[in-house]
Amino acid sequence: MTKKPVIAIDGFSSTGKSSISKIIAKRLGLIHMDTGALYRGITYFALQNCTDENKKLDIHKLISNLPNINLEFQNIDGELQLFLNGKNINKEIRFPQVSDNVSQVAKEADIRNFLLKTQREITEKGGVIMDGRDIGTVVLPNADYKFFMTASQDERARRRFLELEAAGEKTDVETVKQNLITRDKIDSEREISPLKQADDAILIDNTHINKEETIELILSYIKKF
Ligand code: DC
Repeated sequence: MTKKPVIAIDGFSSTGKSSISKIIAKRLGLIHMDTGALYRGITYFALQNCTDENKKLDIHKLISNLPNINLEFQNIDGELQLFLNGKNINKEIRFPQVSDNVSQVAKEADIRNFLLKTQREITEKGGVIMDGRDIGTVVLPNADYKFFMTASQDERARRRFLELEAAGEKTDVETVKQNLITRDKIDSEREISPLKQADDAILIDNTHINKEETIELILSYIKKF
């Protein structure tokens, strides 16, 4: 049997990167790492420990606190869950306050460098599918397969709105769309590791196809191993 592949999946938010990667990992017997969870984990830590007197995030304080942060994934019932200094924070990292602040945190070079090690270490364990924004360009430039996922802003806003609505949050599509546009802008225009398609990545636009069709499309590029 040939070696299990290392697969990088980058792209815009609400294109289904993480949920699709999770299913592909199960089908191919790979480890799945959602790298956005790491940025969310650091943001959660910062909101708890590194705010100023107005409760605003203090990035300098966060950077000086990086040595006090231990983030690790643990396999719980076949799924990697994120632990911060020994506490499972899988639920907390999805809180809206974390979503609203994470792009600011992800802009910082010191924080990106801090997380590089955790992301690269996992590939030593074998076949991996890792999703994020800079996996094919920076974290795993030698990945066996690289995909870049996109969909129209309207369609992504519609999907995100349905997710939030199902989770019982009161919002509307236009607010969700504006939030998405702001996040896309910060992620794509930041100086360090901006969100962009690697030259050798395959573009997957799933505006008009559903989740299962997207999975089949990605799998069609992956050779048997
Ligand atoms: O995929 P997500 O929405 O959970 O990501 C949260 C944030 O983290 C998003 O604003 C972009 C950032 N991120 C990043 O900069 N690099 C990654 N590899 C993954 C996520």
